[in-house]
Amino acid sequence: MGAIRLQTEIPGPKSREVLARRAGAVAGGLGKATEVVVERAEGALVHDVDGNTFIDFAGGIGMLAVGHSPRGVVAALAAQAEKLIHVCALVASYEPYIRLCEVLNEITPGVFPKKTLLANSGAESVENAVKLARRYTGRPAVIAFEGAYHGRTLLTLSLTSKYGLFKKGFGPFAPEIYRLPVPNLYRTPEGMSEEQYVVGASASSRTPWSRRWTRPRWPQSSSSRCRARRASSPSLTASCAASVSCATSTAS
Ligand SMILES: Cc1ncc(COP(=O)(O)O)c(C=O)c1O
Repeated sequence: MGAIRLQTEIPGPKSREVLARRAGAVAGGLGKATEVVVERAEGALVHDVDGNTFIDFAGGIGMLAVGHSPRGVVAALAAQAEKLIHVCALVASYEPYIRLCEVLNEITPGVFPKKTLLANSGAESVENAVKLARRYTGRPAVIAFEGAYHGRTLLTLSLTSKYGLFKKGFGPFAPEIYRLPVPNLYRTPEGMSEEQYVVGASASSRTPWSRRWTRPRWPQSSSSRCRARRASSPSLTASCAASVSCATSTAS
């Protein structure tokens, strides 16, 4: 049975030693939310190097959907590491890579043919989604929402909108990015369908959209064309890629 258990002040003496080494060795741009120095973790609990136990509400910022070190995952990792750790799918194929793509194709939303590209990070996925969409549509512009966070590489930082928090001092940023207010479905204007509100193409002149945003050229036909292209495309698998494709079609 686990529970919060505090044995020392936080950070304790061993944690302070590690934090001092971090300050000397790790680039300062990598911020840290807490002074906790973790030694091991299981389920929802993390144990620090001074013997304190905490409940982990961060979960690797949403990356640990099944908690820390569940037995099945640890066993699968160990079994795979015994056989093969890495060959690079650009060099040769291996079955577990393909099986993972098949599973993702199966469980991601949408009833249409899908294919998957595996990437190292969220930012790399977004970058590739934009590349796919640009190549497919031949259009360079990308629409991103106000308040969006897309990552910290140059393109994804350009798409990210929180200037003071993430972007200050890192420009110039990538061109051809246009920002829209996010359609908050909770505030869908009366008499407007959710689709109309999200697409914005048929929004009336009295909606919150038009008060806050000077609408760019947004011909009805381009969104229809985009829908038709998406319907006939087996290669744009991620909803992200599909929506970026749609954004590039309508923006330019
Ligand atoms: C919506 C969204 N997109 C992209 C990213 C970037 O992911 P990564 O940090 O793996 O590059 C994040 C990360 O928090 C995210 O929340």
